[in-house]
Formats: sequence, structure tokens, C-alpha cells
Amino acid sequence: MRPSLPLNRVLSLVIPVTIGLLLPVLASASKGTGDYRSRPLHKRVTSPKMAAGVSSFAPTYHNGVTLRCSDCHAMHESRQHPVDGDPLSDPFGPYPQNYNGGKSLLKAPDPVDLCLTCHDNQTGIPDVMTADANGLTERSAGFFAPVGTRNPRGHSLDRGQSLEGSDLCNRCHFNGMADASVSCIDCHNPHGNNKSRNLQWASWPGGEPEFGMFEAASATGLQRYEAANIGFGTDAATVFEVTNMCIDCHHVYSGDWNIDPDGDGIHNRHPSSEAEWGSTNNIAQGAAEGTTVPAHWVAGTGVGFQETPRLRFVNNPALNFVDATEIDPAKNGVFCLSCHRAHGGENSFSLRWNPVGTFSGEGCDQCHAKN
Ligand code: HEC
Ligand code: HEC
Ligand code: HEC
Ligand code: HEC
Ligand code: HEC
Ligand code: HEC
Ligand code: HEC
Repeated sequence: MRPSLPLNRVLSLVIPVTIGLLLPVLASASKGTGDYRSRPLHKRVTSPKMAAGVSSFAPTYHNGVTLRCSDCHAMHESRQHPVDGDPLSDPFGPYPQNYNGGKSLLKAPDPVDLCLTCHDNQTGIPDVMTADANGLTERSAGFFAPVGTRNPRGHSLDRGQSLEGSDLCNRCHFNGMADASVSCIDCHNPHGNNKSRNLQWASWPGGEPEFGMFEAASATGLQRYEAANIGFGTDAATVFEVTNMCIDCHHVYSGDWNIDPDGDGIHNRHPSSEAEWGSTNNIAQGAAEGTTVPAHWVAGTGVGFQETPRLRFVNNPALNFVDATEIDPAKNGVFCLSCHRAHGGENSFSLRWNPVGTFSGEGCDQCHAKN
């Protein structure tokens, strides 16, 4: 049983969410002003229509014709054959199946087990846990450790996670982030929402904007999940960084009021692009002060690039793969996925380089030059 919560703490959590759902935030809530503790997580109240010709990934799987109910829900536990004869569509095994009375007629006891029945160790389906059955060079989102273990190299997956009421907030608040966990359907909409990778706002599924993640036009099949075939962009108005969905749980790492509360240009936390709150950045901006070294980034060689390929960046503006992958320090911004993989990986804190290895400063030295 969770201990009961003092009312003032409950309200301090519930009110920002409620405000976030009901009210657009006044434009005056800008750099260095106002009480950021009363801010909602997100300022957007409606999801704009995409401009003609602009789309994220079309079509995203688990949407429309590829949302096949019987992939995930059991009706009568057929004893004969998979729905379409394709074993890929039914890796749940032969009768008698062991659903253990999972809710919503799911074919597994918990959504996380359901997703992993297909998304772990099945050739032909993106493999998001431990070794890659498909042998990609680098899975775009990286990989998880087994369910129910603490993962110091990325997100820890566990069963029984809920987004109901204040359950999401209470995972970290009152209970401690070190013991908190995540589920696939916190971040991905199981019924598809046609956003990139069906990503959603965990605190407000359905409220999310378009996320600027773009696949190389040449990428088909599993190449769509190869890191080198993905680019990130934003127009800072209608299409936001994909990391806009991280804010729901990690709300103090971006936004000017968190990274530079007094607006003096000396950062309190490392910048991370967050267009929704008008807090973008680029690698050229520190040249005058010597805080960044754009020439190093452009060259792409030497200290910083010995073991670690060029880190990912978000281009502003960019609404397609070609523009999103253009190297231009005046457009290339640093964001969460520059330093972290979304699922996890081989390094501490899900970092893209080994922070305690021979080249421990690698990632940092790509945009800076301290060695
Ligand atoms: C990729 C897996 C997947 C597919 C495909 C899928 N569902 Fe679901 N469905 C889920 C999960 C997971 C839940 C439980 C959500 C939760 O616990 O919050 C769910 C829940 C439901 C529920 C319970 C109400 C709700 O929304 O939580 C209904 C009804 C439902 N699904 C119907 C369908 C129908 C109809 C289809 C086909 C059009 C379908 N599902 C396809 C994964 C899937
Ligand atoms: C029956 C097998 C099956 C199950 C169960 C399943 N998936 Fe999938 N999933 C697939 C296949 C197949 C693809 C498409 C691979 C491709 O692009 O060729 C896919 C693709 C995806 C993608 C990438 C979509 C895109 O086009 O960018 C996401 C995200 C995803 N699944 C999440 C989930 C989640 C979350 C669950 C659990 C709620 C789940 N899947 C359950 C088979 C499954
Ligand atoms: C549904 C809530 C949720 C969302 C959304 C979310 N996280 Fe997390 N994150 C957590 C929790 C809970 C932890 C701490 C426990 C754990 O999972 O290891 C965590 C931990 C982390 C860690 C530390 C991992 C470690 O090994 O200590 C990193 C890095 C991280 N998240 C990055 C991200 C990024 C980047 C995004 C967006 C792509 C994101 N998170 C989105 C809930 C979330
Ligand atoms: C992944 C863990 C995690 C989750 C999930 C989470 N928080 Fe937080 N939250 C934090 C951390 C860490 C801080 C910073 C605490 C500090 O600096 O003292 C914080 C700070 C806050 C603050 C203080 C204001 C601020 O910006 O510093 C509020 C309000 C808040 N969270 C609300 C929420 C709400 C509402 C939810 C659910 C939608 C939520 N949190 C979910 C980890 C989390
Ligand atoms: C903390 C949020 C979060 C959780 C939890 C999460 N995902 Fe993802 N997932 C993402 C993001 C963000 C991306 C895209 C990141 C990228 O391309 O760099 C992604 C990408 C994917 C992809 C595309 C493959 C790839 O490597 O890009 C699949 C498939 C997928 N997720 C399935 C799952 C499944 C299955 C689970 C549960 C076992 C899960 N995800 C849990 C955030 C999450
Ligand atoms: C410039 C690189 C960089 C960027 C950008 C970055 N991080 Fe990190 N992050 C790190 C490093 C290094 C650590 C481990 C050391 C530390 O906590 O300072 C870390 C640690 C974390 C942790 C673990 C915190 C804890 O309390 O254990 C989380 C969660 C996290 N980052 C999330 C994010 C999110 C979300 C974003 C985007 C808003 C982001 N990071 C942007 C480098 C970065
Ligand atoms: C993808 C590019 C990129 C990466 C990688 C990166 N940074 Fe930065 N960093 C920036 C940008 C942009 C600024 C803002 C410069 C400015 O406004 O003066 C910045 C600013 C800084 C500052 C100065 C803060 C201030 O007072 O303005 C420090 C210190 C710093 N970064 C350290 C690090 C460390 C440590 C790492 C590795 C964990 C890292 N950076 C990785 C782009 C990056």
C-alpha cells in the first residue's frame, strides 16, 4: 500500500496538470520571470493539423490497416492457426496459452509482456530488448534490460504501471525516482495515434503535437529503425522536438526557467532544445564566449569523435530528413537524444558514449573542445 498523501502535496501535483489541461499559459511566462512551480507541463491545448505535404512517418505501424486487434487481444484462443497464417502475427505460442487473466482480453498478463512477445527476439520485428535479433548497426532508440530489473543504463521496465489519476506523478513523487519504472504504453499509444512511433504525452495521451522525427526516404523494413536513417527537426511552431514527450516525466531539464532561470546567459543546467517553451539553442551560439566550438562540430574528426560517431542533433528549422540531417552549427541544436538513447543502451545513464571509459569526455568534446 502506498502511504496516504498530504493534501497540499497532492494539490501541488494535481493543480499544474489541471491547469495544463484547461488553460493556455500566458505568454508572459518567459525567461527568468514568473513562478515556474505553478507552470503546467505543457502549454499546448490543441494539436495543430499538419501543413500539406508535411507528415511524420506515414504510415506508422499499429495504425489503420496495420492495427490488427487480434495481434494483441484474444477472442476465443483459437486452437487451429494464426489469423493470417503469418507466424509473425502470432508469436504467442500454441494452445493452451497462458494469458493469466490479463485485463482487456490482452494476450499477455501485462501490456509490457504483450509488446515484448513480439518486440523481443523475433526476427523481422524491431527488437527493443538486450541483443538485437535483427542485427541492426545501432537501433535508433537503443535497448532495454529485462523487465522487473533495475536498469542503470536506461529506463527500467516493470509490470503494473498505471497512468490513471495521479499514478504517473506518484511513481517518482512520494515514492522516489530511484525505484520508479516505466511501461511501453506510457510512451507509445497501443492503438496508434499516427504520430512518429505512436509516441504520446504520458500525462495527457491525445494532447500531443506532431513530433519532428524523419526517416530517410530510402529506408524500408527494419532499416526504418536504424539510427543513421533517422533525423530530427522542428519548426518551433507546429512540429516539436520528439523529446517534447520526455517533459511529462522529466520536467526540470529543459525550458529557460530551468536551465537559465535568471536569464543571464550563464546556464544552471545544460541546455536542451524545447521549442514548445521557446527555449531552443544551437552550437554556434557559444562561439563568441568560447563556450562551444562550432568548427570542431563541423569537422567531425579528432578529440570527441574517436569512438563516438557524430551525436544526434535537432535542426531548427527542418521538416524532412534531408534538412534535418544538414550539418550547420547555426541550425544544429543540442537536445535530450544528443546525449541519451530513449530506451537505454550499454552505457551508464543511457548515454551515447561511455562516461567512464578511455574517452570519457567524448560526447561533450564534439560541441566543445576541452581536451
Ligand atoms: C499493439 C497491441 C494492440 C492492438 C493491435 C490492439 N490493442 Fe486494444 N489494447 C491494447 C492494450 C495494451 C490495451 C490496454 C490499455 C491499458 O491498459 O491502458 C488495450 C485496451 C483495449 C480496450 C479496453 C479499453 C481501452 O481502450 O483501454 C479495448 C476495447 C480495445 N483495446 C480494443 C481494441 C480493438 C477493437 C483493436 C483493433 C482495432 C485493438 N484493441 C487493437 C493493445 C492493443
Ligand atoms: C503481434 C506482434 C506485435 C505486437 C504484440 C506488438 N507489435 Fe509493435 N510492431 C510489430 C510489427 C510487425 C511492427 C512493424 C515493423 C516494420 O516496420 O516492419 C511493429 C512496429 C512497432 C512500432 C514502430 C511503429 C512505426 O511504424 O514507427 C512501435 C512503436 C511499436 N510497434 C510498439 C508496440 C507496442 C508499444 C506494443 C504493445 C502495446 C506492440 N508494439 C505490440 C509487431 C507487434
Ligand atoms: C512515463 C515517464 C517517463 C517518460 C515519458 C520518460 N522518462 Fe526517462 N525516466 C523515467 C523514470 C521513472 C526514470 C527512473 C527509473 C528508470 O526508469 O530507470 C527515468 C530515467 C531516465 C534516465 C536515467 C536512466 C538511468 O540509467 O539512470 C534518462 C537518461 C532518461 N530517463 C531519459 C529520458 C528521455 C530522453 C526521455 C524522452 C525520450 C524520457 N526519459 C522519457 C520516466 C520517464
Ligand atoms: C521520472 C520521475 C518523475 C515523474 C514521473 C514526475 N516527476 Fe515531477 N519532478 C521530478 C523531479 C526529479 C523533480 C525536481 C525536484 C527538485 O528539483 O527538487 C520534479 C519536480 C516537480 C515539480 C516542482 C516544479 C518544478 O518544475 O521544479 C512539480 C510541480 C512536479 N514535479 C509535478 C509533477 C507532475 C504533475 C507529474 C505527473 C504528471 C510529475 N511531476 C511526474 C520527477 C518526476
Ligand atoms: C520512456 C519512453 C519510452 C518507453 C518506456 C518505450 N519507448 Fe519505445 N521509443 C521511445 C522513443 C522516444 C522512440 C524513438 C527514439 C529514437 O528513434 O531515437 C522509441 C522507439 C521505439 C521503436 C522503434 C525502434 C527504435 O529503435 O527506434 C519501437 C519498436 C518501440 N519504441 C517499442 C517499444 C516497446 C515495445 C516498449 C516497451 C518494451 C517501449 N518502446 C518503451 C520511447 C519509449
Ligand atoms: C549534453 C548532454 C546531455 C543532454 C543534452 C541531456 N542530458 Fe541527461 N544526463 C547527461 C549526463 C552526463 C547524465 C549523468 C550525470 C548527471 O546526472 O549529471 C544525465 C542524467 C540524466 C538523468 C538521470 C537523472 C537522475 O536523477 O538520476 C535523466 C533522467 C536525464 N539525464 C534526462 C534527460 C532529459 C529528459 C534530457 C532532455 C531534456 C536530457 N537528459 C538532456 C547528459 C545530458
Ligand atoms: C550537441 C552539442 C553539445 C554537446 C554534445 C554538449 N554540449 Fe555543452 N553546450 C552546447 C551548447 C549549444 C551550449 C550553450 C552555449 C552557450 O550558450 O554559451 C552548451 C553549454 C555548455 C556549457 C556552458 C554553460 C554556460 O554557462 O553557458 C558547459 C559547461 C557544457 N556545455 C558542458 C558540456 C558537457 C560536460 C557535455 C557532455 C556531458 C556537453 N556540454 C555536451 C552544446 C553541446
